[in-house]
This record gives sequence, C-alpha cells and structure tokens, in this order.
Amino acid sequence: MKILVTGAGGQLGYDLIRVLSRHYEVVAASREELDVTDAGAVTNTLRHVLPEIVIHAAAYTSVDLAEDEVDQAYQVNAIGTWNVATEAHAIGAKLVYISTDYVFDGMKDGLYDELDKPNPLNVYGNSKLLGEKFAAMLCSRLFIVRTSWLYSAKGRNFVTKVMDMSKNLAQISMVTDQIGSPTYGLDLAHFICELIGSEKYGIYHASNQGCCSRYDFAQEILKYMESKPASIIPIRAESLKHAAPRPTNSALSHQAIRLNGLTPLRDWRQALRHYLLHEDEVDLPKLVT
Ligand SMILES: NC(=O)c1ccc[n+]([C@@H]2O[C@H](COP(=O)([O-])OP(=O)(O)OC[C@H]3O[C@@H](n4cnc5c(N)ncnc54)[C@H](OP(=O)(O)O)[C@@H]3O)[C@@H](O)[C@H]2O)c1
Repeated sequence: MKILVTGAGGQLGYDLIRVLSRHYEVVAASREELDVTDAGAVTNTLRHVLPEIVIHAAAYTSVDLAEDEVDQAYQVNAIGTWNVATEAHAIGAKLVYISTDYVFDGMKDGLYDELDKPNPLNVYGNSKLLGEKFAAMLCSRLFIVRTSWLYSAKGRNFVTKVMDMSKNLAQISMVTDQIGSPTYGLDLAHFICELIGSEKYGIYHASNQGCCSRYDFAQEILKYMESKPASIIPIRAESLKHAAPRPTNSALSHQAIRLNGLTPLRDWRQALRHYLLHEDEVDLPKLVT
C-alpha cells in the first residue's frame, strides 16, 4: 500500500512519516517537492505515484499573518485542497484532509463534537473550512480530521515556545481564558494510521483526551523544565492583541472516534510527558522519497 503525504516538511508531516513508514510505502512530498497550489504539479505527481491513500497535511498555518495574506491562505488551504481532492478522487485514492478546531467560534459551553456547526472567527479558520467543503464536494473516500493545539518534535509550537521562554525569561504571561485540547503529533499520526485502514469515512475530531487553558498547558510544560521562570502571570486573551481573533473554547470531543470503535488518543498530560521525556527514543525509519 502506497501513501503520499503532502506538507511532509511540517510538524505533522514529520510524525506521519515516521509512523506510517513502519507499515506502508510512504512518499513524503514537502513543499519543495509538491506545491499544492500548482494544479498541474498535483496532477502529475499523483498520477505518477498512484498512491492508494493521500494524506493532505500541507497548509498555510500562520494564523495572524493570514489576516493580511488572505489570498495566500485561501490559495493554499482552499485551492490547494481543491487540487489534491480532485486528483485523489480521479485516481480512486482515499483522502485524509487535516483540518482545525479554528473552524469553530468558541462560543459553545462544552466540548465541540463533529455535528457542531462551524463558524470560523478568522481568515485561517475560514480558509480551512472552505478546504473541508471542497474536499467533501470532490472526493468520495474522504476522512476530515480536525485537530488542535498541535506540537511535534519538528518545528515551532506552543511547547517549544514555552521551553524557550523558561530558559530566557524571569517571568512569563499566559492566557487563562482560551481553552483547547493539546495534541501530540505522534499520537495523531498513530490515530491516522489506524483510520486509513478503515472505510469509516467522515469527520473526526482527533486530539489528546482532556482540555486546558494555555496557562494550565504552560504550567504542565514547566513541571519538566530544569530552569523555570520565577512566575507565570495569568492574563486575558484580549490583552495580547493578536491580529486574528481566536476561539475562547475550542476543546474537542471525540464522538466519531468512539462511535466507530477506533482507539482514542491518550490523555494530554501523558502525551506531553512522553514528548518531553521520551521523544528522542522514537526512531525514525528510512524514508521513501
Ligand atoms: N499547528 C497546529 O496547532 C494545528 C492545529 C490545528 C490544525 N492544524 C492543521 O494540521 C495540519 C498540519 O499542521 P502543522 O502544524 O504540521 O503545520 P506546519 O508545520 O506549518 O506544516 C505545514 C506544511 O505545509 C507546507 N506548505 C505550505 N504551503 C504549501 C504549499 N503551497 N504546497 C505544499 N506545502 C505547503 C509548509 O511548508 P513551509 O514550511 O515551507 O511553508 C509546511 O511544511 C494543517 O492542516 C493545519 O491546518 C494545525
């Protein structure tokens, strides 16, 4: 079985490749190898590789910058997904489209399940939602996997930022009024590995179990750091003045995983502990490129 991963140079791409290449022949397509906004390149690559499964992890992910670079965000997240979904369907491949908790407006009191109505607050969320819609229009064998607060051993993310701050700052400020579900890329990759072996198409929310505020998340990270800031100051999100508004609550429930008898991801604290203490023990198999 052959799998093509778009956005293979990103955080999730890195984890997908090291998990999937244990079980499948994996073609890792980073942006340099396949620009998903280039429809001709997408056609040529998919028709040449002929994967049975396409995992579309490529995305424009700069949430604040997207407010200014609106066209670039839509070009990658919506048009790029159109290109990938069209060709995946044409060659009869299953498609996994990775989406986001930022499709929700955060006004719900409680966890978001797969039947909740999206209502994105920012350009990034809107462009990813349009990607979902295009994928659903164009490809019949489709899994939409919405994840949140992702971190991995590759690239910059909230965990690496807090780790850096713990080394360099005497005091840090963290938001208490944004709630979400952290997700360890390695756990998400294992989930996707199980999912693609099934024909249980549809929308899945996939994050580690449980939820927390950014403040709680930072505190949990700092438990494992040798050098710690003297204090963490609780602040409100509005004081950060981000260009892009973010949902106050985007914690995800995992109803589709449960109902379809798939394996839920572990608790977010256990996953974080694994990432911080044992990440380097996960070996990286040889890649097929
Ligand atoms: N990170 C999160 O907290 C989070 C939360 C929810 C959902 N997600 C979703 O999860 C997926 C993976 O995110 P991630 O954190 O792994 O993001 P990432 O690290 O930014 O990876 C995305 C990758 O896509 C590549 N890319 C950008 N434009 C492209 C193009 N035109 N053609 C091909 N590749 C392109 C990027 O390359 P360059 O680096 O060269 O630009 C990057 O390697 C995305 O769909 C994202 O929307 C992420």
